[in-house]
Amino acid sequence: MFYSDEVIEEVRSRTDIVDYISSYINLKKQGANYVGLCPFHNEKTPSFSVSPSKQMYYCFGCGAGGSVFTFAMEYDNLTFPEAINMLAKRCGITLPDADRSEEAIRMQSIRSRLLSINSEAGVYYYMLGRSKDGRAAQDYFKRRGLMDETIKKFALGYSGKRGSLYGHLKNKGYNDEELKLAGLFTFDERKGVRDKFWNRVMFPIMDANNRVIGFGGRVMGDAMPKYLNSPETPVFDKSRNLYGLNYARHARTGYMILCEGYMDVIALHQAGFASACASLGTALTGLQANLIKRYTDQVVISYDSDGAGIKATLRAIPILKEAGLSVKILNMEPYKDPDEFIRNLGSEEYQKRIDEARSSFDFEISVLEKNYDLSDPEQKTEFYNELAKKLLTFEDELERNNYTEAVCARYKIRMHDIKKLIAKKSADMAGIAVSAVRQIKSRAADKDDGSGRAEGILLTWIANDPEICKRIREYMDADDFCDEPYHEIAKAVFEQYDSTGSIMPAMILNRFLNADEQKAAAAILSGHLTHQNLDKYQKQKALNELVKKIKKKNIDRMTRNVTRPEELQRLMNMMVDLQKLHISL
Ligand code: UTP
Ligand code: MN
Repeated sequence: MFYSDEVIEEVRSRTDIVDYISSYINLKKQGANYVGLCPFHNEKTPSFSVSPSKQMYYCFGCGAGGSVFTFAMEYDNLTFPEAINMLAKRCGITLPDADRSEEAIRMQSIRSRLLSINSEAGVYYYMLGRSKDGRAAQDYFKRRGLMDETIKKFALGYSGKRGSLYGHLKNKGYNDEELKLAGLFTFDERKGVRDKFWNRVMFPIMDANNRVIGFGGRVMGDAMPKYLNSPETPVFDKSRNLYGLNYARHARTGYMILCEGYMDVIALHQAGFASACASLGTALTGLQANLIKRYTDQVVISYDSDGAGIKATLRAIPILKEAGLSVKILNMEPYKDPDEFIRNLGSEEYQKRIDEARSSFDFEISVLEKNYDLSDPEQKTEFYNELAKKLLTFEDELERNNYTEAVCARYKIRMHDIKKLIAKKSADMAGIAVSAVRQIKSRAADKDDGSGRAEGILLTWIANDPEICKRIREYMDADDFCDEPYHEIAKAVFEQYDSTGSIMPAMILNRFLNADEQKAAAAILSGHLTHQNLDKYQKQKALNELVKKIKKKNIDRMTRNVTRPEELQRLMNMMVDLQKLHISL
């Protein structure tokens, strides 16, 4: 941790969450809470709720939730220290920088050393590429039609016939431990240390702020592997970066072009398409999609036109849409990738393809169509069924109608027929949904199910009504809660209650640093209670049942692990006491 709990809490309590989130999205008051469209998934009806009393947000649609810190981290892609810095500035708090832990300082200094190593390596490769010894690389770039200006812009370089980056960096004073972490060398007990990259043309990978964080190196001939890449390191997280984003983020085109490879991005920029970036051959991640969403609302996918490219496109579409981006697909036929396309047909033709890019829906159904032989009546019916299912995914009726019309025109189907199909499919789906709900309900009704459920419900209850905490405190302890994250939440709840007499849910979230845990904790603390309408007597009964269930489970667990007879006796007595326990409201 960089900052003490007090500082974190001070920043949190001085930032009103409703006020803060309102500066990003429209919130409307609804009862005690504020609601709006969730910024973390794509939706048309609001399921995003912000609670002023708990100082937390929670989305009932996608499960995103947390405190102002979580929001800043997720929405603006910040690290925790960045988020706290930004929020501190916003509310006029000067952060002390003295109380950073040793571990944090060490990590920070490693990161900064790794960035220097990468930057030094970038300069080294670049200079080598321009030197006499770099002739092979210069010829290669020329063969691929790269202008000098482009080579400079992307700092393309060369890693030398026999790598000697290692000696170079040792001379600069970097030690083996940090050089190992940088991922640019192989350390072998027998063979010694060697440069990972040699005799390759080098592509430095920069983050959005122009810092070199890793490299790709390409062979100049047909050897395998074609590209070698830096491994993930403390400064290179592949799932959070896009090649070329440092330039693409400044292009004001209203869309970004997403392609697969280094050379595609470079060729596109050289041809004047400043908004191109690449996911570098790995599957696109949600984090990358969110990153794009920070700069634009629309993506034109320009992946390779081969089978692998089509598959990758189909996978990328929902991820991009989930991030709230509108997606179009560019048709590159008859060429394989943007680089090849532009070399053959030029940039004007590519611009035309951008203008003609089809909606992702169009693309998806064209791919779907290829699986069916439409001259066969049976397969044709099956295809129409799939179409109807796909059309149903549009929540907005107007949008759905527009696409339905387009589909009818394209496949010469009568509007009436497809609407009937859609209605039927919709009924089927509703049937599935109903039975799913029924299953969940019957599972919930099962008394002995989900041990965690009782713990979660009780914590949700306490978060909504601190009075409950007062009632149970003398009978319960955090250790009664066996499973995580309940145990950790209970610990925080009781500590807070004991020292302040009240409960501040958002403050409890400060304790969870891991995003998944934080999400789980936010879900529990934001949960709705189903027994709001019970009368006092019913509530009391429910409370006693919950407490007994939780405590019984804990005693059962201890009994299973017991080793001494007197211990067993103690547990049996506890069980007897538990039968007599009665909490009144
Ligand atoms: P491609 O094979 O399409 O390469 O892989 P490319 O970008 O068109 O390269 P050229 O035109 O042949 O030089 C797309 C991306 O997949 C990753 C690289 O990021 C590459 O740019 N890749 C590919 C690897 O990491 N390793 C490989 O061996 C191949
Ligand atoms: Mn290529």
